[in-house]
Amino acid sequence: MTAQIIDGKAFAARIRGEVATHVARLQADHGITPGLAVVLVGEDPASQVYVRSKGKQTVEAGMNSFEHKLLPSTSEEALLELIARLNADPAVHGILVQLPLPGHLNEDLIINAIDPAKDVDGFHISNVGLLGTGQKSMVPCTPLGCLMMLRDLHGSLSGMDAVVIGRSNIVGKPMAQLLLGDSCTVTIAHSRTKDLPEAVRRADIVVAAVGRPEMVPGDWIKPGATVIDVGINRIERDGKTKLVGDCDYDSCAAVAGAITPVPGGVGPMTIACLLANTVTACCRAHGLPEPEGLTA
Ligand code: GUN
Repeated sequence: MTAQIIDGKAFAARIRGEVATHVARLQADHGITPGLAVVLVGEDPASQVYVRSKGKQTVEAGMNSFEHKLLPSTSEEALLELIARLNADPAVHGILVQLPLPGHLNEDLIINAIDPAKDVDGFHISNVGLLGTGQKSMVPCTPLGCLMMLRDLHGSLSGMDAVVIGRSNIVGKPMAQLLLGDSCTVTIAHSRTKDLPEAVRRADIVVAAVGRPEMVPGDWIKPGATVIDVGINRIERDGKTKLVGDCDYDSCAAVAGAITPVPGGVGPMTIACLLANTVTACCRAHGLPEPEGLTA
């Protein structure tokens, strides 16, 4: 079998188009423009690239982008003060504090200072709890993007066996909650899992989110399974820098029914879902109907 390649770039473009349509309707019918505030503390080069990309795509979707770039030495007090201002600002519907933060800042404290209704990352403890109890919440962007791709491919996920490799708060845990919400039988595997190959071989859906280059070989994959590769790892090969996922693409694609490539799979979906979450937060703030197909 040769897997169907799931084109995340095209899918993300479709989501951004749906977001832009909804934004145009909010403006025309209600005079409302959704606004997203992104806070970057410090000069981490990868974070700078992400933040630039987020700002550009926010504006392209017709929304307001508010960027706050702070010095690496910014105090916790000053950052909390900015978050309080953004929480109180009616033009700001979504707030994202780019992670990682410099070491002297307490990430949990900062994230939990964001108004949960504006927490478009879905990292606030209230949103984590709401998602875990099956209530309406803001959903972390990368797992939301994975869920959208899986629903688009399969329709219903009910009764499917899913394995999530990785137990991070940003991807693994919320991904498992979302799959459970769609009635999958979910295994969360991690570095201490006794027989990882066996756990993966049982799965109709494999979500790999460990951050270890090409860790999952094709002979772990059940023939016809769907492989969602969240990993983005930079490696050196043949004297060149290359981006690879957590799955060994060629051997997995030879066995899987469908697979996301790296790059061009899950990656582009994250910002598309951030824009979707901002529109959702804006609609909720104004008591308006939420965009269909853009939430969990
Ligand atoms: N850093 C890497 N990924 C993310 C993300 O999804 N959200 C935030 N806030 N920071 C990140």
